[in-house]
Formats: sequence, structure tokens, C-alpha cells
Amino acid sequence: MTQPPPSPMTVPKFRALKGEERKITMLTAYDYPTARMLDEAGLDGILVGDSLGMVVQGKPNTLGVTLEHMIYHAEMVCRGAQRALVVVDMPFPTYHLGPQKAIEVAARILQETGCAAVKLEGGANRADIISALTEANIPVMGHCGLMPHSVHMQGGFRLQRDEDQLLRDALAIQQAGAFSMVIECVPDALAEKVSAALEIPTIGIGAGPGCDGQILVVHDLLGYTLGYQPKFVKRYADLQFIVKDAVEQYQQEVKQGVFPEPRKSKVPPPHNSSGMPRTLQTSR
Ligand code: KIV
Repeated sequence: MTQPPPSPMTVPKFRALKGEERKITMLTAYDYPTARMLDEAGLDGILVGDSLGMVVQGKPNTLGVTLEHMIYHAEMVCRGAQRALVVVDMPFPTYHLGPQKAIEVAARILQETGCAAVKLEGGANRADIISALTEANIPVMGHCGLMPHSVHMQGGFRLQRDEDQLLRDALAIQQAGAFSMVIECVPDALAEKVSAALEIPTIGIGAGPGCDGQILVVHDLLGYTLGYQPKFVKRYADLQFIVKDAVEQYQQEVKQGVFPEPRKSKVPPPHNSSGMPRTLQTSR
């Protein structure tokens, strides 16, 4: 018997996962095929992170990513993700210029991509922005701990150890109406303590197992990152090796005249009921 398709993840359903036994699963994606594969694998959420500046654009940090870049990638991801909750990063400095500007930017992201929520970095200092967005019916995921938009203020990508600051930020984000928050690069015990103090789910990255869920940059997980890779990443595949190996084989075969093989027969291939040759069914 065929199973009915799983119903789409929504913001309220995602928030309610806090009370469940199991952990929440998220990864980043930046294009249609990746989003489709992650969605079909059953992830709860997909983040179109501005980490795309580093892993896709090859930049040293996320500061050069623009609103147009985010919309371009998020629109492809939303087409590929039929079920997972898609959250899109607000890029630097689109939420630093006051609530009105932030609402305009976030509304564009929702309208032009079809995503369900936006994410922005900051704690108590961005509470007014988070509450303006949620008042405008735009769901917000917060992001505290290491905040890549503050890379120069924080002196690099460093573990954040200030317990008072993190607790203050996390509570302010929750109070302002966020439905969830990312906690990046803080000691495990601190992330666990903050997670226990909150009513909304925490999604950890480099923050240990005590968070309510986990997220990784998909290129890191797949071994497809060419630049800097944080120590906490676990690599589940080695796509760099697979790609280089396939390209080398292809080069060799072309140079040696092994590929393409000569066609065996001039008789046309059999047709199916749609009139399309079977050999063309899966090609472009
Ligand atoms: O931009 C991003 O991918 C992120 C994750 C690392 C959480 O913010």
C-alpha cells in the first residue's frame, strides 16, 4: 500500500517539536537539486544560509552576500522543498537599518521565494526588529552565540563563552516572538543550559548535543567545502574525491577516444507509448 505524502512542516509544528523526544534536523541548501534531495530525505527544516557566500561564492565571510543573492538562491530551494520548513537568512545589513526597512526586506523574501520564515543574527540588540517582524506576521528564527555578521567585531570566528550575554540574548529573542533560534559555537554545557531555559527550540551548530536540534552547512557534511571548515563538522561523504575522480576518468576516456563509444546500430531505438525513444526519456 502506498503511504500518503507527509504533510508539510509549518512554523507552529516546528515550534511544537520542542516538546518531543526526538531531535530536530536541519541542513543548509542553496539550489534546487540539493533542496529536493534533502526534502525527500525527510529533514524538518532547510536553511538558505548566507554561508553561501563562503561555500558557493568562495568569499572569506558572509558580509558580501546581498538580498538579490539570497532571493535568487532561496527561490530555487523553495521549488525543490515541498515538505521541509524553508527559512532564509536576512543578509548584512538588511535588518540593521530599522524595523520598517527590515519588514520591507523580509516581506520581499517571503513574497519572491515562497519561504515560510526568515533568520537574523543578534540578541537583545535586535529584539525590536524581531518583534516588528513577528507583529507583521513574518516568522523569525533568531541566531545567537557566534554571529558571522559580527566577524570583525568578534575578532574572527571564535567560540563564544559569555554565559550572561548568551542567556540574555536567548531570552530576548524568545520574548520578542521568535519561533526558534540557532545557537552557534558556544560550549556544550552553556548551550544545554540555555536550551533548558527556553520554551522555543534551539538548533545548535558547534554547540553540542544539548540543543533541541542540529544544523550543518551541507557542503561541510558532504565533503564539498574547499575553504575553511570548522573543527566541529562531521563529514558524512567525500564529494570532492568523487567529483575529481569522475572528471579524471572522463578526461582520460575522451583523450584516449574511449568515450563516446561508436553507436552500435543505425536502427532507431524502440518507442514507448508517449512516442519518445526510451533512450531519451531520462536525458535533457
Ligand atoms: O548561514 C548559515 O548557513 C548559518 C548556519 C551556519 C546556521 O547561519
